[in-house]
Amino acid sequence: MNKSELQKHIAEVYSTAPDFPWESTPDAAVYRHENNRKWFALVMTIPKTRLGIRSDGMVDIVNLKCDPLLVGSLRSEPGVFPAYHMNKDKWISVALDGSADDEQIKMLLDMSFELTAVTIQRKQKIISQEDERMDFLTLAKDRYSARKFVSGEIPQEDIDKIIEAGLCAPTAVNYQPFKIWAFESTEAKAKLLSCTKMKFIEPAPVIFAIGSKADLAWVRPYDQKNFADIDASIVTTQMMLAIHDLGYGSTWIGHFDADALKKLFPEMEDYELIALLPVGVMAEDCKPSERHTVSKPKDELVTVL
Ligand SMILES: Cc1cc2nc3c(=O)[nH]c(=O)nc-3n(C[C@H](O)[C@H](O)[C@H](O)COP(=O)(O)O)c2cc1C
Repeated sequence: MNKSELQKHIAEVYSTAPDFPWESTPDAAVYRHENNRKWFALVMTIPKTRLGIRSDGMVDIVNLKCDPLLVGSLRSEPGVFPAYHMNKDKWISVALDGSADDEQIKMLLDMSFELTAVTIQRKQKIISQEDERMDFLTLAKDRYSARKFVSGEIPQEDIDKIIEAGLCAPTAVNYQPFKIWAFESTEAKAKLLSCTKMKFIEPAPVIFAIGSKADLAWVRPYDQKNFADIDASIVTTQMMLAIHDLGYGSTWIGHFDADALKKLFPEMEDYELIALLPVGVMAEDCKPSERHTVSKPKDELVTVL
């Protein structure tokens, strides 16, 4: 089976179109599950030497997830290799040059699809396993503002991890001029919801609010710039990425009535409220908005001096 035959097979059997997440390898095609965005196949063209083949030239491969108990025996099959660039205990690379048996490739593809499929109920548990972790750039690109949640529990240990990600954020002079509030009770959430039009956050079992306090923050002596909001934004960003890393959805909400919220929760009075951050179980059809892919040209945003 060659690359285009495999891609045709994936389109027919799994009704999935690839995305191409890496600028440096624009041909690398990632096939994901629609609901959990996890990969089940990664098609690439790499130098043969990367697979240990002593020969010049390139070879098309597909990376597939595999039952760890089968990895060892499969690697002795023609055209099957330790996974290129992925966890070699759980993934394999299969050459798309005719050396591997077509039926076996289809069977392995099925296995990979099954092993990476995650129901909403199993999602949190499985996605937090070590081998599912994305490298940082993949995670940062994979994150999007999720705006469709279903009801579902968030285990306390995950809530704790999200808070921890915020607490370890860097702040100017380490002054930590921020506060995180976790809205969990029905009553507190109802009050919070009355302060925003962003009703999609309602099913989220936890909604964080993050605030900054100017008189606790570092002030740059040259121009008196106060760093409180910057510090609290770094906290919020780290929490937002942690939420995605754990397999949940979130959106940074800036559109809310901060004064109304402070009236309902007087303990927030002294803070500048910079974000609401829901933590929700994403609906099967939760998708990035069109804005997610809009980007100004790189040379407009980056200047090398
Ligand atoms: C400071 C800030 C405030 C935002 N406020 C809102 C908001 O109130 N409601 C909303 O739906 N999205 C909000 N967003 C999400 C942005 O619209 C979104 O990040 C942007 O369009 C890019 O899309 P992406 O996050 O899917 O990549 C906010 C994002 C940031 C960083």
